[in-house]
Order: sequence, then C-alpha cells, then structure tokens
Amino acid sequence: MATINKPLKPKPLTKLRSPILTLILCISAITLLCLFSSLISTNGFSFSSPKNLPNKPHRQHTTHEKYLYWGSRIDCPGKHCESCEGLGHQESSLRCALEEAMFLNRTFVMPSRMCINPIHNKKGILHQSDKWAESSCVMDTLYDMDLISETVPVILDNSKDWYRVLSTSMRLGARGVAHVEGISRVHIKENSHYSNLLLINRTASPLSWFMECKDRNNRSAIMLPYSFLPTMASQRLRDVADKVIALLGDYDSIHVRRGDKIKTRKDRFGVYRTLHPHLDRDTRPEFIHHKIEKWVPPGRTLFIASNEKTPGFFSPLAGRYKLAYSSNYSGILDPVIENNYQLFMIERLILMGAKTFIKTFKEDDTDLSLTDDPKKNTKSWQLPVYTMDEVE
Ligand SMILES: *[C@@H]1O[C@H](CO)[C@@H](O)[C@H](O)[C@H]1NC(C)=O
Ligand SMILES: *[C@@H]1O[C@H](CO)[C@@H](O)[C@H](O)[C@H]1NC(C)=O
Ligand SMILES: *[C@@H]1O[C@H](CO)[C@@H](O)[C@H](O)[C@H]1NC(C)=O
Ligand SMILES: *[C@@H]1O[C@H](CO)[C@@H](O)[C@H](O)[C@H]1NC(C)=O
Repeated sequence: MATINKPLKPKPLTKLRSPILTLILCISAITLLCLFSSLISTNGFSFSSPKNLPNKPHRQHTTHEKYLYWGSRIDCPGKHCESCEGLGHQESSLRCALEEAMFLNRTFVMPSRMCINPIHNKKGILHQSDKWAESSCVMDTLYDMDLISETVPVILDNSKDWYRVLSTSMRLGARGVAHVEGISRVHIKENSHYSNLLLINRTASPLSWFMECKDRNNRSAIMLPYSFLPTMASQRLRDVADKVIALLGDYDSIHVRRGDKIKTRKDRFGVYRTLHPHLDRDTRPEFIHHKIEKWVPPGRTLFIASNEKTPGFFSPLAGRYKLAYSSNYSGILDPVIENNYQLFMIERLILMGAKTFIKTFKEDDTDLSLTDDPKKNTKSWQLPVYTMDEVE
C-alpha cells in the first residue's frame, strides 16, 4: 500500500497578477476562530481545478469493496458526545479513521454530518436548543468526497451505498459484520476471520477517535499528512478561496494563533503560568515584525488569519506591509459561509496559497514559524517570557 508523506500531486497554482483596483472594503466584524488548529503544511499545496471538469462522474463502487465504520459522529461515542471539539481536533480524529481504512484496504463510511461547537458558529445557534441537527453541518459542504476517494475510498452514512451495505451485512449475519473494540488494526489485518467480512464496525476509543492513532509518534506509521484534509475542501470552498487568492495577487501569509493557546493559569503561589512561554510575546505585532522581516520584504501584501479578538491588534504591521484579512473579502465570503468551520477552511486555503506562509508553530522541519515553542502539549506550565533579550 502506498504511503503518502506529501500533499498529493502538486499542480501549478495559477494566480491572477493583474492589479486589482477595486476592493470591497466591508468593515465587518473580524470573524475569528477560537480553537484554530493549524495542521497545515505549505509544501506543494495546490488548488486542483476540477472547475474544468464539470459533472465529474461519481466513483463507481465495486462489489468486492469492503467497509469500515466508526460510527455516525466523529469522536462519539466518546467524551465529546454532548459538545464537540474544534475543526482541527475533529480532523485529527477523522484522519486517524481514514488511515485505518487505508491500512485495511477498506472503504471508509464517513459521518454525513460534522458536529459544530456552538462557540464556532456565528449564526446565532447559542439561542437555540442544542439539538444535533442545529449544531452540525453537512459533511460534504466541508469536504469533497470524490477528491478524498482518490486517496482513500469513502461513502457517506446517509448514502444508498451505505444502506445497501447495511442490508447485505444483516442478511449475512455474523459472516457479514464484526463489531470490534480495543482490537488493533494490525490484528484485524492479519486475522483472516476479519479480512473476508463485508463490514468492520469499530467502536473507537471513548476518549477521542484519534486515540486509536497513538502510534503517530512512529512517523513511519503515518499514512496521511496533516495537510490532507485541509486540501480536500469542497469545491464551493475551494472556488471562493480561489477568488480571494486572485484578488490578493502576489502575497504572503501568517497564521497567528493566540486566543486558546496563550491562556494562563495561576499556580499555587498565585503566579501565572502558560504552556507556551513565548507565544504571547511572539505573536504580538512588534515581535512578528522582528521575526518575519527576513522572510517578507517591506511593501508586500500580508494576509493574516488569527483568532485574536482585539480590533486593530495587528495594525502596527501596516507601517511595513499591506495587511489583508478575510474580513476584507466579506462581500465574497459571506454569501457562501454558513459557519466558522467553513470560514476556517477557506482561510487555510488562502494561507496555503501564499508565496511565503508563516505558521504560528513549526510542524515540519521546512516550516517557517512565528514561535519556536513546540506546538505539542508539553504539560509543563512555565512563566511567560516577554523580554526581547531572548530573541536571537
Ligand atoms: C483492495 O481492495 C480492492 C477492492 O476494493 C481490491 O481490488 C484490491 O486487490 C485490494 N488490494 C489489496 C492490496 O489487497
Ligand atoms: C456498531 O457497533 C455498535 C456497538 O456495538 C452498535 O451500537 C451499532 O449499532 C453498530 N452499528 C452497525 C452499523 O453495525
Ligand atoms: C513503526 O511503524 C512501522 C510501520 O507500521 C512498523 O513496521 C514498526 O514496527 C513501527 N515501529 C515501532 C517502534 O513501533
Ligand atoms: C483590509 O481592510 C483594512 C481595514 O479596512 C484596510 O486598512 C486594508 O487596506 C485592507 N486591505 C486590503 C488588501 O484591501
């Protein structure tokens, strides 16, 4: 089975370089994400342009296909059954499940909806009851199933295919389906009892789906890169990102994670501590300026995506760069975006479409980053550092 370490098949990114004179300056509230996960990789990303291939035929399913089902909600059953996590967290879980399907050479049965944490939904859902349908969105408004299927075949759990699999497996009984829990994928693969079954129904870890992929520390066991799902955005989201990218022209980008990541807590002596001691400092405009000046020449257009809520927080950078945010393009984005997960997916595509993309944390050796603090949760609460002295 092929192991994929890089984003798939980079195609050249065509950019519209003609100067755009009219820009819609809609001053709208900067929509921000709280749990903003930046599991993105820059290298080789491209927007494939299936625009030119209208009515791409849907993938044909063969009668030999076998299926893997992990349940109808990402991370559920689990600790997030009531609420749910941010997009990046759920993507880690989904990626883990997709990797298992690849490992077992099975078609993955995707949940047809993704749970949206109410704090990530700006459409007033906090005023409604917290019913599942109201706090979730349709999976294929986020991701392109056909595009995903080119790497790992998927069907949705509200599709005809899935109902056909269910009825066939019921007819076959114990010869059709196995319910597994706490059994490793290696065991399932090597045990002939499982290999012939039409359906494997896994009850994933009650902590989080991605706990099934604890061995991600073993890099050779990783089959899908972090950038996989971000680049699998639905056609509609890719199209709107392409429009903004065309308007931005030649630009660089920074993803500035503050909000959730800079939180502090008091230790038993009343001293504030944080998990990322330099992050608050490194994501302030004066430090960003210091850090990126060697990568981004003055006068460049700089696209900023951030969960910082203070208006004008990054304005000091405007002395050197032409700043742009997704709010600059709300005239294009607002008619398309239904929730903040979709906005985040578009922002990620715009970030990745830049000539130079600087992340908050380094994820790959080749990444440029604002801070040298590790992204991983170190569990070590340290004193925040604000002095410049430590900067090289
Ligand atoms: C994977 O499954 C497909 C059917 O879905 C089958 O044609 C193919 O031979 C299988 N590959 C391996 C390596 O088992
Ligand atoms: C999968 O297994 C769980 C737990 O045993 C069960 O509740 C669920 O109905 C099963 N789903 C399918 C589609 O077999
Ligand atoms: C790492 O993963 C590879 C591929 O799955 C496996 O062959 C190897 O035994 C694993 N190594 C460790 C230390 O777990
Ligand atoms: C984005 O909007 C801000 C505030 O209205 C403005 O200062 C900036 O020039 C705009 N950027 C672009 C690229 O149009």
